Amino acid sequence: MTRFLRPGKRQVKHMRPRELRTKIFLDGGNPFETWDIISRLGFLDGQTTNPTLISKNPDAAERLRRGERFSGDEVMAFYRHVVKEISGLIPEGSVSIEVYADRSTPAESMLAQARDMFGWIPNGHIKFPVNREGLKAAARAVKERMRVNMTLCFSQEQAAAVYAATAGARRGTVYVSPFVGRLDDRGVNGMDLIGNILTMYGAGDGHVQVLTASVRKLEHLLEAIRLGSDIVTAPYEVLKAWADGGMAMPGPDFRYPVENLAPIPYREIDIRRPWETYDIRHELTDKGMERFSADWNGLITKRAA
Ligand code: G3P
Repeated sequence: MTRFLRPGKRQVKHMRPRELRTKIFLDGGNPFETWDIISRLGFLDGQTTNPTLISKNPDAAERLRRGERFSGDEVMAFYRHVVKEISGLIPEGSVSIEVYADRSTPAESMLAQARDMFGWIPNGHIKFPVNREGLKAAARAVKERMRVNMTLCFSQEQAAAVYAATAGARRGTVYVSPFVGRLDDRGVNGMDLIGNILTMYGAGDGHVQVLTASVRKLEHLLEAIRLGSDIVTAPYEVLKAWADGGMAMPGPDFRYPVENLAPIPYREIDIRRPWETYDIRHELTDKGMERFSADWNGLITKRAA
């Protein structure tokens, strides 16, 4: 299992910039990175994990290199162990834990996993995909007072459905995670979606917080801060680069390099309709679930998977 030093053994050089309103999360599945980033930044507001990131944890990767795999129970125990280590490093923060979901996973199964995972640590947010079953599960989870993070969001309409499905929840208990890098990969400006959702949510009660995800470069992080995203989660290399540059904030001269990405136009959407009435289909959500479930199943012996 993972061994790492405790924060405090390396001298903390920085502290949170005074004007920073956006919460900074690490996107990763290796507690050593959590420790390292805390020691570089002097703070960390939370962490997001997912099945792909857990499959890249060095202990998991080493096990696969030895030609060994996990049983279904072992892989859950491993995920739980990793999450507990991370949680212990940021007890005041939030740690997102993702349910297993492929195309055929029903809401009941996601909810059963969520109930178990939510008990792993005191500061968890449970990640459900923004598909029909995931939204159904989340609507029930918030009623049971679980904190949730709705992942694989690629459209304003999906974000509207998240708002509606979790109506009545307290602020801080619901996140929506739009994946900006994967939209960029398609030739559209993922950061536009962040701005559009923030504008749309401006008409609401603030119970859903926007968590910018699938961050690939420092400019994504800076633009998320400039736009006023509630939270941004970034991989180790991006947070390290930000720390190495003295945690520079986007000043009045900062211009996000749109390059040749096509704009995503804003749409007028009423966020107070029944959540089932929104068109939440998106090919990238389906593809994202396929990839997460394949990476997870890759850790498990064929018979157990
Ligand atoms: O925050 C979500 C992230 O882990 C996915 O990132 O780079 O695979 O699109 P990416």
